[in-house]
Amino acid sequence: MDTNVRPESMARITTKELADAFIEEQIAAVREQVGDKKVLLALSGGVDSSVVAALLVKAIGKQLVCVHVNHGLMRKDESENVIKIFKDELDANLIYVDATDRFLDLLAGVSDPEKKRKIIGAEFINVFADEARALEDISFLAQGTIYPDILESFKQAEGKKAVKSHHNVGGLPEDLQFELVEPIKLLFKDEVRVVGEALGLPHAMVYRQPFPGPGLGVRCLGAITRDRLHALREADAILRDEFDKCGLAEKVWQYFVVVPDIKSVGVKDESRYEGWPAIIRAVNTTDAMSATIEEIPYSVLHKITDRITHEVEGINRVLLDLTPKPIGTIEWE
Ligand code: XMP
Repeated sequence: MDTNVRPESMARITTKELADAFIEEQIAAVREQVGDKKVLLALSGGVDSSVVAALLVKAIGKQLVCVHVNHGLMRKDESENVIKIFKDELDANLIYVDATDRFLDLLAGVSDPEKKRKIIGAEFINVFADEARALEDISFLAQGTIYPDILESFKQAEGKKAVKSHHNVGGLPEDLQFELVEPIKLLFKDEVRVVGEALGLPHAMVYRQPFPGPGLGVRCLGAITRDRLHALREADAILRDEFDKCGLAEKVWQYFVVVPDIKSVGVKDESRYEGWPAIIRAVNTTDAMSATIEEIPYSVLHKITDRITHEVEGINRVLLDLTPKPIGTIEWE
C-alpha cells in the first residue's frame, strides 16, 4: 500500500470525537515508529508544524526536540507566541534560534523576489542544519507535510511549472538524512485544524491565516532594509488588530500589509515628511489558485489608516489593493 495515498475508506475528520480517535491512532503509530529515539522538528509556528509538535509532545514528550528559527521576517510577537505556547505551556523541548542578523545580512541589497526566496530557503536549511549537527542522537525528522503538499508534488512531478518556489525543510544536506515522521500527511487543512483544537492548541493559532515561509521578506518589496521591515511589521500588526476587533479576521482568508520601496511627500508637524505607503491586501480563496477581494467597510479603512499613519514611523500613506488573482498573485513578490 502506498502510504502517500489517502485510502478512500478514510473518513473526513470533522468532529472532536473523530479527531481524538485520529490522535490516539497517530500517538501509537509514532511511538511504534520511533521507539526511544529522538525526533527533530522545525517549528515555524504555522498551523501544520504546530499541530505536529503538539501531537508529538503528547506521543513522545521530551524525545521531541523542536527548533524554532526566527529569520527576522516573522510578524510582530510571533516568535514570542511560539515560545509561550510550546515552551511555557506545553513544556516542549524547544530550542529558539534568533538568526535575524544572518538572514538580513545575506538579504541586504538583494531585490529580485526569487533570489530573496532562494536565500531565505537555503539559509533556513543552513541554520536548521547547524542546530541539528549540534544535537546528538537524532534519528528522525518530523514534518508538517499535509495532503495538499503531496498532491502538489505529484503535479509537479508531472511537469507543471510552479509560479513561485515554495520551500520546506526538505533539502537537508547529505550528512543529515533522517527518517521522516509525518503524522498529518494524509489530512486536508480543515482536518488539521480540527485535530489542532482537539489537541488543545489556541483557536487563534489553529485558525491562523496562511503565512508564507519567506515571511515578511516578500512583503518588504525589493531590497529589504531594517527600518522599512520594522515599519511593515508594525503596520501589519495594526491591520491584524483592527481586523480582529471588527470580526474580519474570522472571515477573510488572508490579509496583510505590503510596503514598497518608494517614498512620497507628506506633511507632519508642519514639516515635509517623506514616507513609504502601506498597501493593504485582503483576499478570499479556497485553493490560493485564484482569489477575490474582501470588501472592507470604509469606517474600518479610516481607522486603520489613521492608526498606521500616526503610530508607524516612516509610513505616510495607506493604499488599498483591489486586484483579484488572476491577474495579481496574492503576494506582491
Ligand atoms: P501567490 O502569491 O502565489 O500566493 O498567489 C498563493 C499562496 O501562497 C503563499 N506563498 C508562499 N508560501 N512560500 C510559502 O510557503 C512562498 O514562497 C510563498 N509565496 C506565496 C501566499 O501567501 C498565498 O497564501
